[in-house]
Amino acid sequence: MDRYGVFGNPIGHSKSPTIHRAFALQTGQALTYEALLSPLDEFVASVQQFVDGGGLGFNITVPFKEQGFELVDELTERAALARAVNTVTVLESGTLRGDNTDGIGLIRDLTENNEIALRDQVVLLLGAGGAARGVLGPLAESKPAQIFVANRTAQKAADLASQFVASGFVAGGGLDAVAGVGPFDVIINATSAGLTDAVPAIPLTSLRVGGACYDMVYADTATPFQRWARAAGAAIALDGLGMLVEQAAEAFYSWRGVRPATGPVIADLR
Ligand code: ATR
Repeated sequence: MDRYGVFGNPIGHSKSPTIHRAFALQTGQALTYEALLSPLDEFVASVQQFVDGGGLGFNITVPFKEQGFELVDELTERAALARAVNTVTVLESGTLRGDNTDGIGLIRDLTENNEIALRDQVVLLLGAGGAARGVLGPLAESKPAQIFVANRTAQKAADLASQFVASGFVAGGGLDAVAGVGPFDVIINATSAGLTDAVPAIPLTSLRVGGACYDMVYADTATPFQRWARAAGAAIALDGLGMLVEQAAEAFYSWRGVRPATGPVIADLR
């Protein structure tokens, strides 16, 4: 059977095998999809072994997305922009093509699954690490009125935003600058603050009352940022489960040429 999988460390709790197996069942595709644990310092060797064993494609998750970017032979435009790879296709020639489906996954979950408009909206992106960089390009393509990238370390946000300066509506700065730019219609949390039960230090008034918040991470209960969003008067406060399923669907489509229905899979995972 055609072989796929996801590399990460740790990988035991990954939902990707469940998601891709559900897609395969739903679309009648004969394939296997496994969680692939790579030792931290042996990512390249682990990939080589998988490819030598006939693997046709794989996803990459924490902490290997930047190494994936270095490893592949060619990049899609969106992966080049993100400087991170979450989806690899092994071409017939053996060439590894790296793609990044995280950004399109976020956009689809926001706009299609949850009907949150981005066009002409004032958007705040919190964070300037790998997760933020992965979604900024597709966010900018959605033509909001403005995107402000805010980060605890202001310079990193300014640097990231400067890559999109040509668009004319992307700027960046420190968390302390947020109050002077908002209120925002949509706030997206791409920081890892939640891992320590924290939220980026911005005032509750940063969100327009009735606005939308999106946390790119997910958990079984509300994340700290989702709780912040409720306190700020958000009409909708989502976690990143839908984004996870949507990025997987885009990967599945690029491998198999069939687009799975994501709604039932998101509902099952909930
Ligand atoms: P990832 O790949 O998940 O983006 P990363 O590249 O390490 O991980 O980036 C983590 C992001 O979360 C950074 O933007 C970081 O801010 P700094 O650049 O100032 O370090 C942000 N972050 C982490 N903990 C935070 C906290 N407690 N408050 C605000 N921002 C935080």
